[in-house]
Amino acid sequence: MICAARVHRNEKGKERGWRDVSFAGEKRNQEGDRRAMLNIALPKGRLGERVYAMFEAAGYECPAIKENSRKLIFENEVKGLRYFWVKPSDVSIYVERGAADMGVAGKDILLEYEPDVYELLDLGLGKCRMAVAGPKDFYDDGSRTLRVATKFTNIASGYYGGIGRDIDVIKLNGSIEIAPILGLSDVIVDIVETGSTLKENNLEVKTEILPISARLIANKAAFKFKTGRIESIAEGLRRQLAF
Ligand code: PRP
Repeated sequence: MICAARVHRNEKGKERGWRDVSFAGEKRNQEGDRRAMLNIALPKGRLGERVYAMFEAAGYECPAIKENSRKLIFENEVKGLRYFWVKPSDVSIYVERGAADMGVAGKDILLEYEPDVYELLDLGLGKCRMAVAGPKDFYDDGSRTLRVATKFTNIASGYYGGIGRDIDVIKLNGSIEIAPILGLSDVIVDIVETGSTLKENNLEVKTEILPISARLIANKAAFKFKTGRIESIAEGLRRQLAF
């Protein structure tokens, strides 16, 4: 596929060998370019900034990332790296379909959507828990089907299926905590990090289901053809874990 992309360079960028990219202007062969560069999808937001700091400390820096607030794609030509900021829950889609060779995704997303990717490393960032939570005075006596509101329907179904409990799964997309308050559900299955959202809504953890953290993932075909580069990055990041 031929795509028009304009490469913007400033003098500093030329000297340093990096550039930032916007998709208008000069034509480039995107397929060929994609093969030459290692494409890395990072989760946009606070977690992504910490993840990028690990890549940088491991020697895979891309200074343009720090100098542009609205751009989403950045390259370090010298090192053959191209980073993208994408919505955290979309990272595994980019990696599974090969638009990114590797990326960083939460274990929650990997368990929920089961993308066909390699999971290479637990980065130990973004640690939280997947938990069942509900009103403090709610007790599940098993007398009727349990109504469970969640973004993570597969994780919830898997958990309750595993303990033989019938549930009615109610799929929501956010602000899950208000479901039991308004009587939409009995409990929720959701991520708990600091616990403050539960606390401020008079809910409590009933059961912890799984620990969650950010994982380095790779596209299976890319791993086959770019094994050395991907393994070097994974090793560089693994070394950061010790610090
Ligand atoms: C997540 C999760 C909880 C909250 C937990 O929501 O769904 O609502 O974080 O964090 P805490 O334990 O530190 O309070 P997110 O911020 O992703 O927004 P959402 O409601 O749109 O899912």
